[in-house]
Amino acid sequence: MTESIIINEVGLRDGLQNQPRFVATVDKLRLAEALISAGVRYLEAASFVHPKAVPQMADGAELSAALPQRAGLHYMALVPNLKGYERARAAGYRKVAVVVASTDTFNLRNIKMTRDAAEQACREVISAAGHDQVEVRAYISGACACPYDGPTPVGVVQALAERMLEAGAVEVSIADTIGAGNPRQIKNILEPLVRAHGARHYNLHLHDTRGMALAMAWAGVECGVRNFDASIGGLGGCPFAPGASGNVATEDLVYLLSEAGFDTGIDWRALRPAVTLAEALTGQTLGGRILQWQRSQELRACAPLPEQTQG
Ligand code: COA
Ligand code: ZN
Repeated sequence: MTESIIINEVGLRDGLQNQPRFVATVDKLRLAEALISAGVRYLEAASFVHPKAVPQMADGAELSAALPQRAGLHYMALVPNLKGYERARAAGYRKVAVVVASTDTFNLRNIKMTRDAAEQACREVISAAGHDQVEVRAYISGACACPYDGPTPVGVVQALAERMLEAGAVEVSIADTIGAGNPRQIKNILEPLVRAHGARHYNLHLHDTRGMALAMAWAGVECGVRNFDASIGGLGGCPFAPGASGNVATEDLVYLLSEAGFDTGIDWRALRPAVTLAEALTGQTLGGRILQWQRSQELRACAPLPEQTQG
């Protein structure tokens, strides 16, 4: 039987959060629908952060109320603190994501807390969510490097991951927020963690800033990880992480995994309307390498044949 891999689409949250032009709720909904039509079943749909910190996410409640609800669709929202958790729970989420960055500096810039305070905020959310039978994923951001303080020691990430699982998070996402990592680093971080807790507790969240994301994803697959974040067309960036570009493009990751014999439930060709829509909504040229290739094939097919020469 083909082994399954979960692709958690983060375009609506990580993808859009840095976009200067506000994308109307109805258009976010169209994007969600286009993704779902292509087979996407897991979506990080919104964040419940301070609307002044990230104005693009201010419509989280309205969007969440309008998202298609049917069996097999799984939504998650990012929350930085208890207040965010309460807003997410009121919006009906059964799974939320909390975030702690690897350094004080990054936490302070992102959520105005030291790392200890961020960990404490995560614990508070995990504890409240436990009472509500809501699941929690903990993102360890800046897992490969901090945008301010440089490379992150492997042991720091591992200790944070251990503590988040101990606190009751169902899974930990190792997040290379600024796309500064490499496959060996992923192996070094994940191998001992997977040995200790099992791969099902881990997700990888990779940005493709330096073109390493697919190689790092494959390193994760080899460590046993079967749960990945990706963003349609490679959309994304973090307003609080200078230099961060988009996540690994969903269509590229899906292509890699399906070519390698895994079942993601998503057809990479069917993602193209979602990429086109994301381009129209953001005014950016998007799309991973596989779409570039597909477009080049179409251009070739359309090009007139060179005239036959006689003799
Ligand atoms: N949603 C909406 N409002 C919130 C909130 C949340 N999750 N958390 C706090 N607030 C409100 C408080 O109610 C308070 O309002 P008041 O002044 O009307 O009483 C105000 O914000 C200040 O509260 P405080 O706890 O001091 O927040 P802060 O100013 O220290 O900001 C965060 C902390 C986490 C809310 C803010 O930095 C943030 O939203 N960051 C998100 C960054 C982000 O999205 N990064 C990318 C994803 S990781
Ligand atoms: Zn990210």
